[in-house]
Amino acid sequence: MSAFIVLGAQWGDEGKGKMTDYLAEEAQVIVRYQGGNNAGHTVEVGDKQYKLHLIPSGILHDDKINIIGNGVVVDPKALFEEISYLEGLGIKVTPEKLAISDRAHIIMPYHKILDKLKEKARGKNDIGTTGKGIGPCYTDKYERTGIRVCDLINEEVFKEKLQENIKVKNQYITKIYDGEPLSFEEIFEEYRVLGEKLKPFVKETSVIIYDSISNDKQVLFEGAQGMLLDIDYGTYPYVTSSNTTAGGVSSGTGIGPRLITNAVGIAKAYTTRVGKGPFPTELMDETGDWIREKGHEYGVTTGRSRRCGWLDLVILKTTARVSALTSLVVTKIDTLAGLDKLKVCVGYEFNGQVIDYFPASLEDLAKCKPIYEEYEGWGEEVAEARSYEELPENAKKYLKRIEEFTGTRISIVSVGPKRDQTIRVADL
Ligand code: GDP
Ligand code: IMO
Ligand code: MG
Repeated sequence: MSAFIVLGAQWGDEGKGKMTDYLAEEAQVIVRYQGGNNAGHTVEVGDKQYKLHLIPSGILHDDKINIIGNGVVVDPKALFEEISYLEGLGIKVTPEKLAISDRAHIIMPYHKILDKLKEKARGKNDIGTTGKGIGPCYTDKYERTGIRVCDLINEEVFKEKLQENIKVKNQYITKIYDGEPLSFEEIFEEYRVLGEKLKPFVKETSVIIYDSISNDKQVLFEGAQGMLLDIDYGTYPYVTSSNTTAGGVSSGTGIGPRLITNAVGIAKAYTTRVGKGPFPTELMDETGDWIREKGHEYGVTTGRSRRCGWLDLVILKTTARVSALTSLVVTKIDTLAGLDKLKVCVGYEFNGQVIDYFPASLEDLAKCKPIYEEYEGWGEEVAEARSYEELPENAKKYLKRIEEFTGTRISIVSVGPKRDQTIRVADL
């Protein structure tokens, strides 16, 4: 295997950061292909905890090449803040370890302002975005007015593109959203300097990735967000603005799909979601609160509490299909220890029929009633388990059902946030 994907199989926060850090041991190059610093990945190594947003989770290893691909949106201010934060924790981030695509789009101050103003204007129909400017930046990309990394590092081009953008964005900000206009001079000066700092990191990254694969190096594509936040296959419009599914890898890195051999879906042993939007198996009761507390389900990027619910196998089956998963990693199985009974959703009742896919229309989804199977819980904590055999019988039954329903084998079971709390069961 020369190139494989690690992606979120639910609504994000499944433990992609932990698993990328763990699997980076087996790779030489780690590549982000979509999203931006809306992502929040907590990785624990020894007694240290690292919170990553934009930089690939392979950065914690000294000898890996990390790449921010063309499909990512880059906030240069946030990038240098993250670099300083990591360096403060003793992690070096040099141009030898981190390369940024010259084609990636830049998140500008007006994107962040518009993200917040648009959310406010949506009122009770807000999406609950992270406010990092993600949607407005991708909007400019597809409107073909965006500023790319290669533009930012060329002062003349940047000046011209910024002038044009500020003119138009100030109209939106002041006339539609009643906000304060931005100063071209201030932004130009600040971002010109950021562009200079960025220069040593800027590369033609698709060549680096292609050459790595050609030379039999292992490349790991690290997803951000999750399947149901995908702009096409998620719970639109309560989604993010990029393709989080395996399809996003090729366009987001410039690597043809034929070169990608495996796709590993990271799935939490239950379901969580941050922000607004439908969530059929959500628990609005004390079991939901219990899971939130035991699993520390609070967002890394915004600090919001995560909505919690039962495991929804319809979601995992959909991810297995859409991203052609070769295996699943099940995380946080330790959180569930102590619950008497566990429910697992195995279909939706919709208009008198049973379906096992997510309908596109939110109105149809609202009519879907989850069909549950009930499983006996397990009392024993599993955080110390280091082999599949050590897991309680009821936990094994639960895992077996996941494999059976999704038609996808489980390659890894995670029993805690640390590297060694990881049980390898099968090939990726
Ligand atoms: P990501 O966005 O998919 O990388 O996930 P987050 O980092 O936002 O959220 C997952 C959280 O669960 C992090 O705090 C991890 O340290 C933690 N975590 C990952 N795997 C496990 C696990 O198997 N058990 C427990 N208890 N925590 C885990
Ligand atoms: P990781 O990589 C969970 C959610 C936001 C909001 C929606 C749109 O840590 O799994 P955006 O700012 O992207 O326009 O917000 O997407 N969201 C996430 N939820 N984990 C994430 O990333 C997320 N990134 C965005 O809460 O509902
Ligand atoms: Mg997260």
